[in-house]
Amino acid sequence: MNPTRHVAGAARRGSLIIVGTGITLVRQITVEALEYIQRAEKLFYLVPNPAVAEWLRELNPSAESLENSYSDGRPRHDTYAEIADRILKSVRGGLQVCAAFYGHPGVLVQPSREALTTARREGFAARMLPGVSAEDCLFADISVSSTGRGWQSFEATDFLAARRRFDPGSALILWQVGLLGEASVREGMSCRPERLRVLTQVLRRHYPGRHPVILYEAAQFPICDPTIERTILERLPHKQVLPAMTLYVPPRPSRPTSRVVARWLAE
Ligand SMILES: C[S@@+](CC[C@H](N)C(=O)[O-])C[C@H]1O[C@@H](n2cnc3c(N)ncnc32)[C@H](O)[C@@H]1O
Repeated sequence: MNPTRHVAGAARRGSLIIVGTGITLVRQITVEALEYIQRAEKLFYLVPNPAVAEWLRELNPSAESLENSYSDGRPRHDTYAEIADRILKSVRGGLQVCAAFYGHPGVLVQPSREALTTARREGFAARMLPGVSAEDCLFADISVSSTGRGWQSFEATDFLAARRRFDPGSALILWQVGLLGEASVREGMSCRPERLRVLTQVLRRHYPGRHPVILYEAAQFPICDPTIERTILERLPHKQVLPAMTLYVPPRPSRPTSRVVARWLAE
């Protein structure tokens, strides 16, 4: 279970393995992630659920929360840089370090990526393992179109800022709508209504007002149900969108238009 085995040419003693804890408490962690968490000489974690934090501390007494790198109004970029730095300090100190993030550690987790890249650049063995993301839970909880029309997944602020092009004929998933246009996080925040209106206006160029949309929050505890709040696009600005929610927009009806492929299928 030594991550040095996985990185050819790694010369230095410290190492880094980045794992995900999944969304639902305990049950969604992979066997390999669990093993690394237990064996690490130093464990860092960033998870929103205090019960998961408690569980991680039981699994590995070296566990240290990264939560205190956040503070109200602090620019997110500063927080991410500090988190990456804290992890790297232990790697540079020669320890076998494991950093656990909720969900999939590579899905919208900037500090994990930063720590991984820097550790590798500095010659340490460093690897990320996959985890169960909120999107994986969404696919399980909502009957996402299974007709092969695909889906597109964007971070909501980037979606608006970069005017991302997308195809409304396949499903659309927007992450972090609750943090739309926010450079820092605050306790108890939700998407500002005027910003939710802007997002809705952009989506209205592609979908009718009565198009269904779903605000989704996967259950964090095995005994709980997910939150699946169904509404229509024109009512979206009246909803409270929390940071832990993901917006799902089902596809608009569309027909394949390629004659070539139609001929293939008819053969
Ligand atoms: C910083 S990203 C972290 C994603 C995480 N690494 C993952 O793999 O799911 C935070 C965003 O993930 C989504 N998210 C986090 N927890 C969720 C949950 N319980 N249900 C649905 N979406 C969730 C939301 O879109 C939220 O704004």
